[in-house]
Amino acid sequence: MVVQTKWLFVGIIIICLVQIKLNLDSEEMCACIHCMAGSKEDPWFLERYKNLVPKLLSRQNSEFSPNTQKWWEQLQGGSSEKNYSAVVETLFSLFPDEEHYSDAGPHRCRTCAVVGNSGNLEGSHYGPLIDAHDFVIRMNKAPTAGFEKDVGSKTTHHAIYPESAVDMDNSTHLVLVPFKILDLEWLISVFTTKHITRTYTGVKSTVQADMDKVMILHPEFMRYVYEVWLQKQGKYPSTGFIMLVLSLHICDQVNVFGFGASKDGNWHHYYDKRYHQHLNTGVHRGSAEYNITLKLHQKNKIQMYKGW
Ligand code: C5P
Repeated sequence: MVVQTKWLFVGIIIICLVQIKLNLDSEEMCACIHCMAGSKEDPWFLERYKNLVPKLLSRQNSEFSPNTQKWWEQLQGGSSEKNYSAVVETLFSLFPDEEHYSDAGPHRCRTCAVVGNSGNLEGSHYGPLIDAHDFVIRMNKAPTAGFEKDVGSKTTHHAIYPESAVDMDNSTHLVLVPFKILDLEWLISVFTTKHITRTYTGVKSTVQADMDKVMILHPEFMRYVYEVWLQKQGKYPSTGFIMLVLSLHICDQVNVFGFGASKDGNWHHYYDKRYHQHLNTGVHRGSAEYNITLKLHQKNKIQMYKGW
């Protein structure tokens, strides 16, 4: 009797362990042919991909780790402590305070197009292909009107900061990338008093966008992109690179358009031929970001579309 009970106990333990293993495996899978978070990972990718880092700011996760506090303060050249808690309170009395994108699983196949602003989109005819994705993520000044053939017309997410803000339609999530506390205050001002018209330069005092779709990127996530993915190269990562890494975390399949130089080596925007500044100059390390993007492509984690 004692022996039978012992084997029953061992059997139950084995069943539980198999169940746990199955659950762990299925959590990593998705319904696409290739999943971002597969179970047999490449060590280079595993070393970098940290799924527990908070992606979007909420009331509940608003407290920074000491390292993020330090990094964010140094980014804005001063202390952010003075009114951060009050700003967070106001933010989430105005904008959704929700847990987003924790729905990964075996039944989800979310395809995403991350669309950078490179001139290599010109003449690409990628428009219909871009629009066929579940999420189409654009950033900064990116226009679609007049460029539909090459860049598409659908935008589910548009990442901006005050100095790069544009109006968007009601089907688009405004995603704020906050580089400083004033950026959070600006977001509040834009939808309430409209009194902030300057940061280090003139900024839009009002933005056309659906308040109920506003999302705020977590500074913890920005530091993770900078320190883990970019290995602290440049001063801080570009909006495009931040959105690219975000897409690895919220999508099952990622296709990347409009990143890197055009065929003739220019780094201009598809909507502004006069802009020829190389992304390697200034605060961003464009070539480092590009090389990591290329590596993700070589490792089959993303597909890059270069336009030629
Ligand atoms: O120039 P801007 O920051 O608005 O462009 C958005 C993003 O598109 C950049 O952050 C960068 O990641 C990407 N980009 C690029 N090559 C270009 C222009 C932009 O990779 N020539």
